[in-house]
Amino acid sequence: MGKISISELSYAYQMGGNTLPILREASLALSSGAFATISGPSGSGKSTLLNLIGALDRPQHGDITVGDVELSKLSDRQLAGFRNRMIGFVFQSFHLLPVLSAAENVAWPLYFQGVPRSKRMERAREKLELVGLKDHLNKVPGKLSGGQRQRVAIARALVTEPSVVLADEPTANLDRKTAEEIVVLLRSLNENAGVTFLLATHDPLVVAHAVQRIELVDGKLIEREQVQTQEVLAHA
Ligand SMILES: Nc1ncnc2c1ncn2[C@@H]1O[C@H](COP(=O)(O)OP(=O)(O)OP(=O)(O)O)[C@@H](O)[C@H]1O
Ligand SMILES: [Mg+2]
Repeated sequence: MGKISISELSYAYQMGGNTLPILREASLALSSGAFATISGPSGSGKSTLLNLIGALDRPQHGDITVGDVELSKLSDRQLAGFRNRMIGFVFQSFHLLPVLSAAENVAWPLYFQGVPRSKRMERAREKLELVGLKDHLNKVPGKLSGGQRQRVAIARALVTEPSVVLADEPTANLDRKTAEEIVVLLRSLNENAGVTFLLATHDPLVVAHAVQRIELVDGKLIEREQVQTQEVLAHA
């Protein structure tokens, strides 16, 4: 359902007449239910890659398939639908709407699916409970800690029951203890729901929990090691 297949993907930014190549015929296969990290130096293209997989942008060359959907075959309108139904995004800076409560923030993506309000709020409550925030449904983000805000963002990413969650530096704004709690939560959600997780990260703590560790080097994706679950837990 959430398998990801990337084939000879190339992407370059155009900068005042210059071409800045970021991805150079990069390929990768992730099976459904994977829990993978993408590491690489700042500027290597991790966010660019997540944006392409999440259909926020289109590659200049190559194919991305998510589940059975070949992204290059979709119109812009179809891509927006794909993004809303199949992908959940989690960002470093949470990207919550400050005037909405936690529950309203989580319910927001369902608005675009035409889900009625009472159903939206019910599903938001379920997801907030899943991430340990059932006592904070009505608080605005400003009244929550960083870790709690990231939990709200994770609940929002899951509310549409996506096949794939893409997280861009999800622990970068968190203290170490909270970062560990968040990565443990992501892993447990991955194991329980079978959703594919792809995390772009610099954080060794997150990489230590990964089952698949991928590096972005000179525009190519290199799988460093396939780790057994027992080993991941032993290192954690
Ligand atoms: N819109 C843009 N126009 C031009 N260049 C860009 C644009 N967005 C990113 N870049 C450049 O492309 C390269 C890759 O950026 P990207 O954000 O994907 O890297 P990253 O690996 O996520 O970095 P970080 O670890 O700092 O988040 C960088 O050199 C960046 O400056
Ligand atoms: Mg980035």
